[in-house]
Amino acid sequence: MFWETDKPHGLPHNPFKSCVVPRPIGWISSISASGQVNLAPYSFFNGVSGEPPMVMFGANGNTAERTKDSLANVEETGEFVCNMSTYELRDQMNASSAQVDADIDEFDLAGLETEPSQLVSPPRVKAAPIHMECIYYKTLDLPSETPGMRNALVTGRVVGIHIKDEFLIDGIVDIERIMPLARMGYKDYTHVEKIFSMTRPKA
Ligand SMILES: Cc1cc2nc3c(=O)[nH]c(=O)nc-3n(C[C@H](O)[C@H](O)[C@H](O)COP(=O)(O)O)c2cc1C
Repeated sequence: MFWETDKPHGLPHNPFKSCVVPRPIGWISSISASGQVNLAPYSFFNGVSGEPPMVMFGANGNTAERTKDSLANVEETGEFVCNMSTYELRDQMNASSAQVDADIDEFDLAGLETEPSQLVSPPRVKAAPIHMECIYYKTLDLPSETPGMRNALVTGRVVGIHIKDEFLIDGIVDIERIMPLARMGYKDYTHVEKIFSMTRPKA
């Protein structure tokens, strides 16, 4: 099939999110200027450069009246943490996605313990195997189809990375044991369970 995306696709559900898979989940912890802690998953998330290490997440799909708390907090205080969500933490990750008021701490909601960060104020998800402490860089406001609603691509510079020692084997991150969670289309998820290597050709 082919469809122009500003016209109906004729399918029961929009297949776009199945066409960009798997998407890693940035489990974003942030804090408001008044000190309210927040946690939410974002699958429009990725690393965008290695030197320096930079990440992005896309906050969209909320009402015009209310900006997503993660976006508001990051723009307000300039800091966030990307916690790695895993197959083991899937239920807690899902629980933290509840659309709740800004004064609700999703760590409590999901039954998760916090751990202080070293370089930024937002706490980390203690149970997560990897955390990236980030300093907000800038937001790119993308086109939005709902008047007044932001479609924001937030970028940040990773200033510190924690990897739990138990997941470092001979200096290599043991991704097969971590089993990072990733988002597919519809209500589907996957996790990394098979790894193979290839060497790049020489020019
Ligand atoms: C696996 C998963 C991935 C999600 N990815 C995104 C995303 O990329 N962008 C987005 O705006 N919302 C996404 N959501 C929805 C947000 O997590 C949800 O709106 C949440 O309440 C936002 O919280 P906040 O207002 O505290 O930032 C996702 C939800 C789940 C469960």
